[in-house]
Amino acid sequence: MPEQTLLLGQTLTFDADPFAAGPAAARHDGHGGVLIEGGHITATGSGNDLRRAYPGAQVVDYGDGVITAGFVDAHVHYPQTAIIASWGKRLIDWLNTYTFPEETRFNDPAYAARIAARYLDLTASHGTTTLCSYCTIHPASVDALFTEARARGQRVIAGKTCMDRNAPDGLRDSAQSAYDDSKALLEKWHGVDRLSYAITPRFSPTSTPGQLSALGALWAEYPDCLMQTHLSEQTDEIAWVKSLYPEARDYLDTYEAHGLLGARGLYGHAIHLEPRERARLAEVGAALIHCPTSNTFIGSGLFDMAARVAEGQRVGLATDTGGGSNFSMLRTMAAAYEIGQLTGTALHPAQLLWLATAGSAATLHMQDRIGTLAPGMEADIAVIDLASTPAIAQRAERAGDLWEALFPTIMMGDDRAIRATWVGGTLAHQR
Ligand code: GUN
Ligand code: ZN
Repeated sequence: MPEQTLLLGQTLTFDADPFAAGPAAARHDGHGGVLIEGGHITATGSGNDLRRAYPGAQVVDYGDGVITAGFVDAHVHYPQTAIIASWGKRLIDWLNTYTFPEETRFNDPAYAARIAARYLDLTASHGTTTLCSYCTIHPASVDALFTEARARGQRVIAGKTCMDRNAPDGLRDSAQSAYDDSKALLEKWHGVDRLSYAITPRFSPTSTPGQLSALGALWAEYPDCLMQTHLSEQTDEIAWVKSLYPEARDYLDTYEAHGLLGARGLYGHAIHLEPRERARLAEVGAALIHCPTSNTFIGSGLFDMAARVAEGQRVGLATDTGGGSNFSMLRTMAAAYEIGQLTGTALHPAQLLWLATAGSAATLHMQDRIGTLAPGMEADIAVIDLASTPAIAQRAERAGDLWEALFPTIMMGDDRAIRATWVGGTLAHQR
């Protein structure tokens, strides 16, 4: 008889998309339970019913803690962990001043392994159970993250960042080596345990057309892989792309013309889009990854969530560590809310939590495995304390319903609000 674990608490998950169905898309049980067996969720429902039905299960009672799917962070750069919150620069200067020197250090596999472990510790303590990461140009940086994630039984998507121009010495590959190294890493890691490879051209300014073509050809060979890149994050960047690709119709066209536009494409930021770009992204069903703390921190601009959803875009949510200023998906939801206010739409807490779980999972095409609490799903779970600080507790005490109780934690919470994180049915973090 395999071992069973029964988590008890307030369960909160989604049966539908709250952007389409409203807050009723959420399923909440004030005294719910989640049964875990063999790394998967095998039953959900009333806590008392589950206790009776599975008397042999080991019970972990979180009281009024909120049991939700673990957070899914759809765009991060784990190599930027140690330079998060670096002062005073906008995108291109920030890359040259802080990011590229730090990424150069990943030619040392021991350093890469150390930061990978640190990053996965930090994200687990913030309730994040799945992440989609850029690595550096060094294949060893990919090996480091996948090796560490595999040892933890964690679902991770990652890829070697490819750059063959406009990057310093020691941080450039070539069209051919980017293709060869990416292919070798993909063959080595894609589909191993819970790991997936994402083809990763950093962005058009740091790739020649030849490199984008080579990676487009690789994607055509492995169409079930995700492809991640950056799109229209800052206006200076867009002007630079125009000068580097004079024949392109717009920024998206630099990808489209080289086989890098598709439903499994993840386009980070995507703030300043032309009408043609918006139409094409929606038409192919590509994913726009909203990185709100990064967009304010680096001064990139305001992503108009309501407009993008209304035009049928698929949208995910991400920290963009370390252009983003926080490891916390709670803080990221808060920033998404604030940007929503600045663009004219107050996002409902159900929409924010959905973006951080099921919504991001859908952009990764993994909604059948992660992002919700339901039988058959992988047991990736975060348990949220709704009174983790005195400031949050005194506000939550006044709450009239679940959403009013959760919203102060979304706005003011951090890793102190994460009571526990379960990864593949194993306790990965506990406060
Ligand atoms: N555009 C290209 N590279 C990066 C990066 O590392 N971070 C952010 N925020 N934008 C980018
Ligand atoms: Zn990024």
